[in-house]
Amino acid sequence: MKAIQFSEVGGPEVMKIVEVPKPELRPKMVRVRNHAIGINFADNFFRQGTYLVRPKLPDTPGMEGAGIIDEVGPEVEELKPGMRVVGIGLKTYAEYSLFYANQIIPLPDFVSFEDGAAFPIQTLTAWFMMHVSHHLTSGQTVLVHSAAGGVGLVALQIAKAAGARVIGTVSNDAKIPVAKQYGADEVINYESQDFAKEVMRLTDGKGVDLNLDAVGKPTFEKGLECAAPFGHIILYGRAGGPPDKLDVNRLFPKALKVSGFVLFTASSQHHLMHQGTEACFKLMQEGKLKMVVGKTFPLDQAPAAHRFMESRQSVGKLVLVP
Ligand SMILES: NC(=O)c1ccc[n+]([C@@H]2O[C@H](COP(=O)([O-])OP(=O)(O)OC[C@H]3O[C@@H](n4cnc5c(N)ncnc54)[C@H](OP(=O)(O)O)[C@@H]3O)[C@@H](O)[C@H]2O)c1
Repeated sequence: MKAIQFSEVGGPEVMKIVEVPKPELRPKMVRVRNHAIGINFADNFFRQGTYLVRPKLPDTPGMEGAGIIDEVGPEVEELKPGMRVVGIGLKTYAEYSLFYANQIIPLPDFVSFEDGAAFPIQTLTAWFMMHVSHHLTSGQTVLVHSAAGGVGLVALQIAKAAGARVIGTVSNDAKIPVAKQYGADEVINYESQDFAKEVMRLTDGKGVDLNLDAVGKPTFEKGLECAAPFGHIILYGRAGGPPDKLDVNRLFPKALKVSGFVLFTASSQHHLMHQGTEACFKLMQEGKLKMVVGKTFPLDQAPAAHRFMESRQSVGKLVLVP
């Protein structure tokens, strides 16, 4: 089968298309013939050797893939060959990949493979942050950084569906109409404007109840400034570099809460996966949540796809098609 592989960590150019054997089935796992593969920002960190999970060289990037189950391993009960599914796993930039059965989500008929590949990591991350880490209620105000990105566009929609007011940030004006199209009430260009001042102006000096921050260093400090009393900042990434250390004394005056989020903590708990998946598919069926596939690339164009994501020009989800 064809797969993307890198033998040294580095820039997008280290990724090459190679011919390798199909992965061998193991107990509790299924093998999926991928039809669409989700690209995530963390794939850049994995390729650079700076992600939570370190590559074992030569390695293959990728954490999600949608397709058809090719074969199921021993001790797998409910999944069968031929089922349309999406899975969260490793080494998914390939024609076939292995997934643990408990990390497989059967795809409803109304979800295409491309939308399926856009679903698990970005959508469930957004949903878990708003409905498990935080308990978002109607009337709260949510700040979504990088609002036109993969997580960003689904976070806007999930926040709106919960009845929140949503303020987005983006780094260039071309992304503003897209963020508005998917539910942002206001969008701030945080490169040309001081977003904290703008948030305070837009909220009549109150600030935001929830701030979803995966940018890190450039945004975290200012996030404290524009949080509402009892506000909550969730750090879930570091696209702009890790934030400076937090002096917890800064949380006292406004009774703030800062928490971290990583999907694997939620996705390893069956009841949470079930709850999040059901809720998001329901929103999709009701027309309140759309996957936004901004661009697809053939599998061998993975380096170009990574360059595009790193350029900060991409909008929505990027998908590889094997
Ligand atoms: N914790 C988790 O489980 C989890 C799960 C999924 C994603 N994430 C995190 O969520 C963030 C978004 O992920 P995604 O896959 O949906 O990617 P994405 O938002 O589609 O793309 C990344 C975006 O980050 C923004 N960005 C800010 N500073 C940047 C920089 N210095 N270099 C490059 N981009 C920068 C850019 O938007 P602007 O320039 O418009 O801001 C860019 O478009 C990432 O930080 C990712 O690691 C975390």
